[in-house]
Amino acid sequence: MSIAEKRNRACTKLLADVHAIVDKEGIYPSALHEMKLKLVALAKRTELFPLADFAMPVAQGRNHPLLVEDNDGLGLYLTISLPGKEAAPHDHGIWCVNAALAGRERHQLFRRTDDGATPGRATVLKVGEVTVEPGHGMAMADHDIHSTMVLGKEPAIGLAVYGYALTRFPSVSWYLPQFGSVRTTASRRHAPAA
Ligand SMILES: [Fe+2]
Repeated sequence: MSIAEKRNRACTKLLADVHAIVDKEGIYPSALHEMKLKLVALAKRTELFPLADFAMPVAQGRNHPLLVEDNDGLGLYLTISLPGKEAAPHDHGIWCVNAALAGRERHQLFRRTDDGATPGRATVLKVGEVTVEPGHGMAMADHDIHSTMVLGKEPAIGLAVYGYALTRFPSVSWYLPQFGSVRTTASRRHAPAA
């Protein structure tokens, strides 16, 4: 069996495990934690993810689909972020779990502190920080807010499972703490299925 076939088999098993967890528990912190442990275990099998099979980004970052389900299902990706890449605090609107294959990425976690009454205005408070590196991962619920920064001189490479495929993503909210503002991207939930 080729590496690609072994990888595909392992990715299929991972998503089957994720479905079994959701069916049993729903989307709760305990379920997200369990999914994260499964994804960390898969990410430890680095022989399944040789870098020769995944083109590096030209700049910033790139997501390689590993297994994307039909019918608005889950998406499993290999993500590559180059040194120096950073993202402002944002909320995906959908849960996700991550696990590192190589490199280090710092995630800062935030909580929104205003009541959302004024369009375009928002304040956030930093409430935590985690570094995702090999052997570790993190999980986020639908409206958790994080910022990211690649640490060091190596690309941060990891696996990510999202509750929706990236091509079917809901609106993402971007927070700008220095301006007390928020802006949102257009939802792709009503786009034709890719
Ligand atoms: Fe994010």
